[in-house]
Amino acid sequence: MTLNPTTIPKDFLGLSADELNKRIIEVKAKLGKRLLILGHHYMSDDVIAHANERGDSFALAKIAAQTDAEFIVFCGVHFMAETADIVTTTAQKVFIPDPGAGCFLADCARIRDVEDAWQEIKSMTSEIIVPITYVNSGADMKAFCGDNGGLVCTSSNAARALKWAFERGEKVFFFPDQHLGRNTAFAMGIPLNEIILWDPDEPLGGNSLETIKQARVILWDGFCIVHQEFNVDYIEKLRQDDPQINIIVHPECDFDVAQVADYMGSTAYIIRMIAEAPSGSHWAVATERNLVNRLKKAYPDKRIEILQFFEPYCKSMAQINLTNLAYQLDQIDHGNLINQVIVEEQYAVSARIALNRMLELTQ
Ligand code: 13P
Ligand code: SF4
Repeated sequence: MTLNPTTIPKDFLGLSADELNKRIIEVKAKLGKRLLILGHHYMSDDVIAHANERGDSFALAKIAAQTDAEFIVFCGVHFMAETADIVTTTAQKVFIPDPGAGCFLADCARIRDVEDAWQEIKSMTSEIIVPITYVNSGADMKAFCGDNGGLVCTSSNAARALKWAFERGEKVFFFPDQHLGRNTAFAMGIPLNEIILWDPDEPLGGNSLETIKQARVILWDGFCIVHQEFNVDYIEKLRQDDPQINIIVHPECDFDVAQVADYMGSTAYIIRMIAEAPSGSHWAVATERNLVNRLKKAYPDKRIEILQFFEPYCKSMAQINLTNLAYQLDQIDHGNLINQVIVEEQYAVSARIALNRMLELTQ
């Protein structure tokens, strides 16, 4: 989802970080509980410092569903703000300081292609197929799941979502992230020959009729460009240097990487594991650099590094910065509701069903 960002006036662009911080703090104080700033763990330090709540995509969706705040400013990517809009009331308003902050992974699947694949797969089997969309997807994809007996999942509840689906059907159609789907299904005991990939550009998604019939999980051919940067060779190198090192990875990483890792889980899981680890322990983390660098600073008694010789980062998350956050708040304060994220009612109703199924999973 790529939308045009609001043009920020030149005089505002020239403000120092100190001045921007001051203005943000002033508007926050003025609006009080009417305003809630949510920040994803991948935000930069200067932005996350202003978040009233920080979290992974699941935690932030849950907070959005429970808050009474009138203005919710989402420091994250567009699908997260869309999710917040879906789970809040029509009286509440959700904003993203740069509506152009999309997500490479979410853009891997278009609803038309997903619907075509769904029809094709359904025509080949009489089994019940349950669709699951990773929260990193457009509202239309979530609506599709709501309409077709499926649900949304995040990286912190994908196993529970798959279990929910298998209690209701024989097959799961999982999109758009093939890695989260494969890593989770395999960890639940589903063998690789029952997990297939659907390539929308190939006849039968690049499969034979027989493999489709025997598949239990059909994965969309999508991936996160940031989490593709981590590889097994580098893990082996680190282990040669320090056999005691703990390798912890986000489930958007490749299957091979997840297989050789010591631990795998969402950003919230990664944070918890490192927080609870003994002093002096050594960790290499396969996820976005802002989170890893923050963990490094928070736990100077532990050796923490990113699982790569460079620092993979999410360009989309980096589109939210101190300047556009300050401008967003300034405009809300002046009653100018720029960058509001509004999911069309046509999608919101069905997407809410799929999101609520996820939120109920963990209650
Ligand atoms: P979390 O669900 O762990 O917050 O991850 C979201 C995301 O975009 C990871 O790349
Ligand atoms: Fe999307 Fe990957 Fe960025 Fe997460 S890290 S927001 S999945 S592009």
